[in-house]
Amino acid sequence: MSANYRIAVNVEWTSKCNALCPMCPRDAIRRPEVMPIETWRKTLERLSPAEVFRVVLAGYGEVTTHPRFAEFVEAMRDHPVRFDMVSNGHLLDPEKIARLDGVIDLLIVSFSSVDPEVYGRVHANLNQQRVMENIKRAQEMFRHTKLGISLTPMPECLPSLPDTIGWLRAQGIDLLTMSPTLYNRGGSLKEYELASNELRRLISVHGLHSQELDFIPGVGEIYRQWRSNRFKCVPRNVDLFVAANGDYLYCYNDAAHRNAIGNVMTDSIAQTIRRREDMAAIDSLCGPCNMRDRYGPVELLRVGMNMAGARLRRTS
Ligand SMILES: C[S@@+](CC[C@H](N)C(=O)[O-])C[C@H]1O[C@@H](n2cnc3c(N)ncnc32)[C@H](O)[C@@H]1O
Ligand code: SF4
Repeated sequence: MSANYRIAVNVEWTSKCNALCPMCPRDAIRRPEVMPIETWRKTLERLSPAEVFRVVLAGYGEVTTHPRFAEFVEAMRDHPVRFDMVSNGHLLDPEKIARLDGVIDLLIVSFSSVDPEVYGRVHANLNQQRVMENIKRAQEMFRHTKLGISLTPMPECLPSLPDTIGWLRAQGIDLLTMSPTLYNRGGSLKEYELASNELRRLISVHGLHSQELDFIPGVGEIYRQWRSNRFKCVPRNVDLFVAANGDYLYCYNDAAHRNAIGNVMTDSIAQTIRRREDMAAIDSLCGPCNMRDRYGPVELLRVGMNMAGARLRRTS
């Protein structure tokens, strides 16, 4: 039987990447992998709109480096679930943009700064000019898919944030998003600390879209998730991570991919969610995690009010 709430699913087509971003603890993955097409087809079979409100193609690697990218996109064409994709934008050529148009709802390109020095440090190994050209091209070419930008919440990106926002808005891009938390990924990133309050202030001052609402289907469903799960960690409970080898991970913040709770080849999403509902925190992962207790009753109330406000603004 399915759970009485829907979740988001984060699918990792590959844990390999063409970048070396300091805020991403991908080096914790001992053996980066590429998802086989059979695993992707099985994942697609398992995804139903009754259980899943959104699938984000992201994971810890870079989707566009997948050697069978075109085939993976074609396999999900006409699937009834909503798909979004997150990419660093470096390999987004016209062929990929055209293929994605209308198959995914939203393409989010991660972008740190218009300042070349900052970009070079934060999106290490990528070519900033090329990424900026690709962003412009995607914005021009998309007819059905929306383009959004994920602004990196790293302290060194913030001085150039107004210029970065100015450039993106000048390209006609209105969906600029930022996470109000720099995740420490189950404690695996220790050197960066940034107060969520400051990020929240910047999100509000610049009229950005806060990513904290994106994985929450609705207030009623959050309540049902809260009731059904023994461990009340909202970031864990709203999302199910499918790793490149088909493993369902206990939590998307398990950067090292150590805690599998099933595999798409053998287990349904409902079975896996039920299994996780009964599981306690994993001390080695959750102990140092800065997302733990992130959403207490007060936080949830605030998020609920933000959601209601956002809905109201959309309808008016
Ligand atoms: C994990 S990346 C992977 C997908 C893709 N390779 C990319 O770079 O967009 C997805 C998003 O997470 C954001 N991100 C990475 N590390 C983060 C952290 N420690 N805290 C908050 N957001 C982070 C990035 O800015 C990016 O937009
Ligand atoms: S506390 Fe544990 S379950 Fe919750 S977000 Fe952190 S790593 Fe995930």
